[in-house]
Amino acid sequence: MAKKNLIDPVPFRNVFNKLTIEDFNLKGKRVFIRADFNVPLDDNLMVTDDRRIRSTLPTINYAIDEGGKIILCSHLGRPRGNREPRLSLAPVAKRLQRLLNKEVIFAPDCVGHQVETLVSKMKEGDVILLENLRFNPGEEENNLEFSRALASLADFYINDAFGTAHRAHASIVGVPKFVPAAAGFLLKKEIEYLRGAIDNPVRPFVAILGGAKVSGKINVLENLVGKVDKVLIGGGMAYTFIKAMGYEVGNSIVEEDMLYTAQRIRRKLKEMGIKFYLPVDCVIAQSVEIGAETKIIPTLEIPKGWSALDIGPATVKLFSEAIQDAKTILWNGPMGVFEIDAFSRGTFAIAHAISDAYALTIVGGGDTDLAVHRAGVSDAISFISTGGGAALQLLEGKELPGIAVLANRED
Ligand code: 3PG
Repeated sequence: MAKKNLIDPVPFRNVFNKLTIEDFNLKGKRVFIRADFNVPLDDNLMVTDDRRIRSTLPTINYAIDEGGKIILCSHLGRPRGNREPRLSLAPVAKRLQRLLNKEVIFAPDCVGHQVETLVSKMKEGDVILLENLRFNPGEEENNLEFSRALASLADFYINDAFGTAHRAHASIVGVPKFVPAAAGFLLKKEIEYLRGAIDNPVRPFVAILGGAKVSGKINVLENLVGKVDKVLIGGGMAYTFIKAMGYEVGNSIVEEDMLYTAQRIRRKLKEMGIKFYLPVDCVIAQSVEIGAETKIIPTLEIPKGWSALDIGPATVKLFSEAIQDAKTILWNGPMGVFEIDAFSRGTFAIAHAISDAYALTIVGGGDTDLAVHRAGVSDAISFISTGGGAALQLLEGKELPGIAVLANRED
């Protein structure tokens, strides 16, 4: 099934005012591409999900076709400046080689004499992947000398690591100080959707927020006030809102210190005429485990000792109807503990409802990305972000360090 793009993305076509890879003449140049290849590996060190690698292919292939010498780098995991063999990028090099259908030379380090020699021998179209940047403490410390050493390998710097654009690390904000810097195609697309489509939405614009905690989404909600037409809340965070309205929620997750904030934001949305939906029924259990006894009950009748772990069928119907006329839909955060079968139906039903909508549909990374894939509808979503923390910060309206550092077109 082809990815749908039913709504013309005209309103946000011009939001990206940074230089992009297309602004440079790459022929014969060393093109240093910061990617986010932070992908899961299994016990045999096989890549189990290569979506982040695939999403950078347009940038890599473009640089190859333009005759650049491509030097790729990334972090993997959190080795905190230590060389941890199980966090080597070698398995990524192998997968990338298969995806590109061409040789990918794997460098045993990210800086140093050996790497410099490998780079000096490169021919147009060659691809090198450097070893995990975070094996060097200079990466997370944003060390200037480390940045300089990385930059010495480059004629041009391209950032395509959207998932890491919120980290002020050497390869993100340090290297662009030394060489001309621009965005890759993935970074550009992420900003166009997560910033452009949301700041100037085709209306009605509906936001569906879920996940465990209000505290993780409150800044997103604040940023959406004035932009969005409807807000639908599911997942654990719904119960802080419900408790704040004075109802009992049994053992469901509640952030006591967010009760006032939850009530304030709900009032604010109401004052602005923004429709606000909470679950009307839920799937409850006494423990979050496979095989636990479950019941479906109205949200306001959760007994003591029971927790709400998914939205119920009446809520699925209510939410599905609420998005029916939407022209832009943003979804961030699952509706329940979808990793466990008994609590997954609500999340998957919402994934299907979104994929059926005649709208520009944007999924905000992290767990929601996984849910959409497990529901089997990822091809029917207009855009799925590759960032977790970075996507959230963009949706909060913040400027990400990795984007701020790139040159503006008018500079
Ligand atoms: C991610 O997976 O969210 C990014 O790769 C950033 O990783 P980090 O949280 O370890 O900085």
